[in-house]
Amino acid sequence: MNQSRKIKTIIEPQYVMEGAGVKLRRSISPNASNLFDPFLLFDHFAFNDPIEGPIRGFPMHPHRGIETVTYILEGTVNHRDSLGNSGTIGPGDVQWMTSGRGILHEEMPRRGPSGVIYGFQLWVNLPAALKMSPPRYQGVNVGVIPNLEQNGGKIRIVAGEINGVQGPVTQISANPIYIDVTLAPSAEFVQEIPFGHTALAYVFDGNGIFGEKRSYTHAEEISAVKLVHFGDGDHIRAEASPDSPFRFMLMAGAPFREPIVPYGPFVMNTVEEIQQALMDLRNGTFVQQ
Ligand code: FE2
Repeated sequence: MNQSRKIKTIIEPQYVMEGAGVKLRRSISPNASNLFDPFLLFDHFAFNDPIEGPIRGFPMHPHRGIETVTYILEGTVNHRDSLGNSGTIGPGDVQWMTSGRGILHEEMPRRGPSGVIYGFQLWVNLPAALKMSPPRYQGVNVGVIPNLEQNGGKIRIVAGEINGVQGPVTQISANPIYIDVTLAPSAEFVQEIPFGHTALAYVFDGNGIFGEKRSYTHAEEISAVKLVHFGDGDHIRAEASPDSPFRFMLMAGAPFREPIVPYGPFVMNTVEEIQQALMDLRNGTFVQQ
């Protein structure tokens, strides 16, 4: 490993309203420019204050052409879908859903006992050949998510392989790395990411740097909350500030390099495929069991 990835862009999450009136921090969303290929969307549910009002959730809605990974840190999400799955995911749990050709689902976040809900939803693209594949769903319990501890760092592996340890979400088509990294003050973290792969870090607690040692001029201090898009290289190096922990979700994967046409909850490759999705919804043929 000899080329540390530098920060290419720092994205400031924007507050948006989605579903039946859920306030989110959104960093990226599906766009024809497909800058973050294979990643499409990153949302952060963060309600830290009960007086922010009720959380109305995401009533039944369709998806086609994507995979979603929901990771909850505090509070819960009740869900049900057109495959007949239903349940609750709680702190530390992961829900992974492949919409394939079509799924309808409902996602209803609930505050935890402290009044807080905290979690993330990542959308990963499907390659053209799998966009119309059968939908699949998997709930992953906190107990099966590996925790690694090394040099003042804690890593929870949602997906991908780190130091020979495989995360439980293994069937995402893009085969990404998706990990939750917590560094104690001054701790450092190095992760190999192959050249050409897209890499993003969502910094949600504390501050630190990405890049080589502090004396190097290209290292730039990042404070929560920001999404960092990395330039190319063969590894990512992070270091927590001496006076602060540093926590981020790191996601990386090989781009599909296919054109995309996004339309709300659908991400397809052509305008005709979007028109087909809308027609299927109107005709009641969107979901096929
Ligand atoms: Fe959804």
